[in-house]
Amino acid sequence: MSEAVIELNNLKKYFKINIGIKNKKAYVKAVDGVTLTINKGEIVGLVGESGSGKTTLARVLLNLTKPTDSHVVFNGVNLSKATSKEMKKFRTEVAVVFQDPASNLNPRDTVMNSIMRPMILHGISKKIAKQKAIDSLELVKMDSRYLNSYPHQLSGGQLQRIAIARALVLDPKVMILDEPTSALDISVQAQILNLLLDLQESLGLTYLVITHDLNVIRYISDRVAVMYLGKLVEFGPTKEIIENPKHPYTEGLMAASPILNPHDRDKEKYLMQGDPGSLINLPTGCHFHPRCPYYTERCQNEQPQNIILSNGHQVTCFKYELFGKNS
Ligand SMILES: Nc1ncnc2c1ncn2[C@@H]1O[C@H](COP(=O)(O)OP(=O)(O)OP(=O)(O)O)[C@@H](O)[C@H]1O
Ligand SMILES: [Mg+2]
Repeated sequence: MSEAVIELNNLKKYFKINIGIKNKKAYVKAVDGVTLTINKGEIVGLVGESGSGKTTLARVLLNLTKPTDSHVVFNGVNLSKATSKEMKKFRTEVAVVFQDPASNLNPRDTVMNSIMRPMILHGISKKIAKQKAIDSLELVKMDSRYLNSYPHQLSGGQLQRIAIARALVLDPKVMILDEPTSALDISVQAQILNLLLDLQESLGLTYLVITHDLNVIRYISDRVAVMYLGKLVEFGPTKEIIENPKHPYTEGLMAASPILNPHDRDKEKYLMQGDPGSLINLPTGCHFHPRCPYYTERCQNEQPQNIILSNGHQVTCFKYELFGKNS
């Protein structure tokens, strides 16, 4: 039986904003009813167009911002009711690596100081923190001579390795990686992905990897969650979703991915029409309906519910209501 590390049930995060000259209030529903479980030792990929709410979801998961409704459950503990001891454990066990390594590191700090900082904040002695910094650089396959370097002396790939080393120093169990390779050259991307896979296996980590890149998802993740305008529209085993996407949006994403299916080059592809919608002015009913080739009147008026298909594959689309499990 898989052990849940992170559980979300109908999680919401709305931002209140002012619009127009009369400062009319509106809500940006960045995360709107997301239900998701991440199990121990697995890699879950989170994919979706820009502005679909991926980073907001990560920030709620990391407790950097409070949800508007519902809560995050980490190792069975409801974070909205956690004691300070439980919160300290959470902050140690969940680490994050953001997209732009340069902005993660203070330009005036040496690599050594940057890596030591989280340990000092957690009350670890300087001596132990120094040794841990040396060990963590070894984990990310970098020579210890870089400990005295400054961020501007390092390449993008090296900076990202250091960001990963720093994320590892408190011995986390879970890593949230927000676009960990999208700022890097393609050859360096592969090195970083391989490093992440090695670390995941050797340290028994659990990852949530956020990315635009379906090739990253295919390479790294066991399961994939697809977000569209604040909602989770599809979730399931990566192979299943890549080979047999059920949601029309996922289908469109797959078709738009250039390298994903080189053998399918001659097949006629369904290319998604229209622009990604706006979270401020959301379409009625199913958010995807203005771009959907299977659109019916019902899609405009009602919101589809999440349907569980076979093999733990879930989809939020009316198309499957009639056929259910075997479609
Ligand atoms: N603090 C905030 N106040 C108001 N709106 C916000 C705030 N943070 C995020 N948003 C809005 O929430 C929506 C989702 O943003 P988010 O950064 O989560 O998207 P994303 O999927 O990570 O996009 P990208 O792929 O470009 O990183 C956007 O419309 C964004 O403008
Ligand atoms: Mg983002």
